[in-house]
Amino acid sequence: MDEFSYAHRDTSPESSGKGLARFNKPNIPPELQAVREGAFEREIPVAGDDTLCFLMAQVAAVKPKRILELGTAVGTTAAAMALVCPDAEIVTVEKDERFYKEAIKTFQLCCPNAKIKPIFGDAGEVIEVLAGVFDFIFMDSAKVQYIKYLPRLKQLLPRGGVLAADDVLLFGWASGEAEVPKKRRMFAAHIEEYLAAVSSDEELITSVIKVGDGIALSVKK
Ligand SMILES: C[S@@+](CC[C@H](N)C(=O)[O-])C[C@H]1O[C@@H](n2cnc3c(N)ncnc32)[C@H](O)[C@@H]1O
Repeated sequence: MDEFSYAHRDTSPESSGKGLARFNKPNIPPELQAVREGAFEREIPVAGDDTLCFLMAQVAAVKPKRILELGTAVGTTAAAMALVCPDAEIVTVEKDERFYKEAIKTFQLCCPNAKIKPIFGDAGEVIEVLAGVFDFIFMDSAKVQYIKYLPRLKQLLPRGGVLAADDVLLFGWASGEAEVPKKRRMFAAHIEEYLAAVSSDEELITSVIKVGDGIALSVKK
């Protein structure tokens, strides 16, 4: 399992039947649902129902012209955002070549007319060379890097732009509701640093919410 995989609890078919997932049913075509179910079966950490509904509602409200996603995996969140915002340009970055190639197939299958630009590469390197601004950024790559990416992502956001960082509550570790296992302390410390930074940043308005494994939603003033 990769470093990010344990940050997801809301992705299994079992957990999707519990709690708010009973009501949060993403309105997506069967072919995209099939890609998600295939990913769940293979334990690829793609967004669960709660997170996906939240994300789709957010982009429906923000109506971004340009979306940046860090962490494509097999393309389920990027495809869902494209279905909600068919005119948006979506740049999505993935460092795992196998996932990147699968994501391209997902886009061809589920949203062939979408303006999605998949990039195979390291998010930290890619964001340094991206031009222009993105009205909506969905950060869902390695959690330990969130704090490192924050200064550059703030530059890529226009005023009113939204930065949604996924999986920030980590089994209750970051909120203090659960004790952090010893070997995960460094990991939890990086996320706490991110949450402290966004919640005290004068240029951002941030709300940390319990959706999925926690989302920090920051809006640039
Ligand atoms: C949680 S998954 C993304 C799930 C996807 N957004 C979805 O819900 O459909 C995280 C992904 O980030 C990728 N990733 C991790 N670190 C990365 C990095 N530094 N640059 C680009 N991708 C990265 C992983 O390979 C993995 O596919």
